[in-house]
Amino acid sequence: LEKKAKAEIEEANSSDELERVRVKYLGKKGELTEVLRGMGSLTAEERPLVGKIANEVRGSIETLLQQAKESIKTKELQHKLQAEALDVTMPGKQVAIGKKHPLTKGMDELKNIFIGMGFKVVEGPEVDTVHYNFDALNSPKNHPSRDMSDTFYITEDILLRCHTSTVQIRSMENMKPPIRIISPGRCFRNDTPDATHSPMFHQLEGLVVDKGITLGDLKGTLEVFVKHFFGSHTKIKFRPHHFPFTEPSAEVDASCFKCAGEGCSVCKGSGWIELLGCGMVHPNVLANCGIDPEVYSGFAFGMGIDRLIMNKYEIDDIRLLFENDMRFLNQF
Ligand code: PHE
Repeated sequence: LEKKAKAEIEEANSSDELERVRVKYLGKKGELTEVLRGMGSLTAEERPLVGKIANEVRGSIETLLQQAKESIKTKELQHKLQAEALDVTMPGKQVAIGKKHPLTKGMDELKNIFIGMGFKVVEGPEVDTVHYNFDALNSPKNHPSRDMSDTFYITEDILLRCHTSTVQIRSMENMKPPIRIISPGRCFRNDTPDATHSPMFHQLEGLVVDKGITLGDLKGTLEVFVKHFFGSHTKIKFRPHHFPFTEPSAEVDASCFKCAGEGCSVCKGSGWIELLGCGMVHPNVLANCGIDPEVYSGFAFGMGIDRLIMNKYEIDDIRLLFENDMRFLNQF
């Protein structure tokens, strides 16, 4: 019995197999247990003899089992360590880190400049009514910008705003002077996309209404703005223009931040960059919003953000701003 058990213990390869051998010999119905149980039928002289032998056999089987158990445990541990081995020198997985889009970056910079001058940031809806986009802005019924070939209509009365001037009206309706707001946001025009046109683009509107606001305030505000945005040597130039919602109106150019007026690729050789449209808020517009033009006056300006940012970062195609190509975005 002892020899048989020893051979089986040596053959056992796992803790489970070893346990089976233990039960087979030492368990309740084990072979050695059977021998001990059968001792009742022995004579009084035989009993201690057989008992002694049986106990010795049990002792030696137990010792063998214990030794085998320890060596199997060591083997199993080694196996596990090998199977679960980690190569700590292997390179880690690359995590793609996000970046601010150049438009967001530029927009944040613009907002901060105006916030520093006491302006509040207000946003308006991108889908708006003809009232806010044209009528309340004193735009004549036959104005070409109202045409379907220029503006995206959803119904006869609802459209995608073609400028952020809609927010001038909403602000004057909702606030009492003094009003000092900027409104950045998306605008839409029915333009065929090319390097300088996109049917979706961005503007930033500014509006100040208070007692005694003059063209001088407008000029001063824009001067501070360009010096912060392009650099302290930047100059601005007013060209007379027409907008239905301002009187007088002007377009403003800034001296090129790159060539300082000498002419370069950024300003296309002119020395100047087209900056924005502006003017003194038309009395009709103030009146349309319930503000007495005899008491209050104001100025407004609106600028295209995309081209401004293209100039600043020397981006030569507006479509790059909307394609989300990581090779482009990672440069900022
Ligand atoms: N809304 C005008 C445009 O889109 C810009 C503008 C805004 C002009 C405010 C004057 C005053 O061209």
